[in-house]
Amino acid sequence: MSVKNGLVQLENLTSMENLSVDEVMGLIKRASAFKAGKADFALDEQTFASNIFFENSTRTHHSFHIAERKLGLDVLEFDAQASSISKGETLYDTVLTLDALGVDICVIRSGVEHYYEELVNSDNIHCAIVNGGDGSGQHPSQCLLDLMTIYEEFGKFEGLKIAISGDLTHSRVAKSNMMMLQKLGARLYFTGPAAWYSEEFDDYGHYANLDRILPELDVHMLLRVQHERHDSGESFSKEGYHTHFGLTQERAKMLKPTAIIMHPAPVNRDVEIADSLVESPQSRIVQQMSNGVYTRMAILEAILAGKKAK
Ligand code: CP
Repeated sequence: MSVKNGLVQLENLTSMENLSVDEVMGLIKRASAFKAGKADFALDEQTFASNIFFENSTRTHHSFHIAERKLGLDVLEFDAQASSISKGETLYDTVLTLDALGVDICVIRSGVEHYYEELVNSDNIHCAIVNGGDGSGQHPSQCLLDLMTIYEEFGKFEGLKIAISGDLTHSRVAKSNMMMLQKLGARLYFTGPAAWYSEEFDDYGHYANLDRILPELDVHMLLRVQHERHDSGESFSKEGYHTHFGLTQERAKMLKPTAIIMHPAPVNRDVEIADSLVESPQSRIVQQMSNGVYTRMAILEAILAGKKAK
């Protein structure tokens, strides 16, 4: 991975851990150029991308598809139910097969954390792997679109006060964002139920009381409550969560007028955030979704540049 003549070159994109500040800033600038219609891009040869999603997705799956089409890639949608996965074929053998067929880039979402390691460490798999989310592990493309959205608003990260709130332990978005926002110089706070906090997060920021920290924030980033990753016996009250940990209409009044509200979505309205705030003037939730297309174009371009430089 590197930056050459202002263009980022990536072999794979699996975790924010592997990206430098220069690479992140290069990807944000390129995503902004795509958004402004000022990025020259031309494919040298026919290139195939396959989107392999084992967990449901609307934003990530479809914005990668649109990004691929906008760059002129041929897109091979992969339906796990209709594939030989249903006959017991492993992810490794599936990707080995797609690689042998000529697929250049596999965008993969899986519930298995670190699923990508055996793929990127294989001598026999040559296609690039882009992680579209691995269990509670990492979600690098979501992190980059979040960073683009924050940068569009403030033009910097250094010194911004950012709270990440909610289901922290189960959230891959939180893991990717805390790792990179700290590297970029933001001051991080975590709020939410203590049961969804881990001491490991102390390396990146402080566990705080939401009502105390709200008036100081530049960014309030909410997380979806990830019921699918909770123990089945865990009790949960939507109203109770909203009252104690959610961004209610009353709490939103405590935010600075310049502060922005973010959420990776899908949103549980009236749980993490009051229904009326989702599309409110301080919310950047819809902008995050739009930025996902341009960010993913920048990621794919960097992967293609990395393949060319090999
Ligand atoms: N934010 C996000 O990853 O949304 P999807 O699950 O719809 O892709």
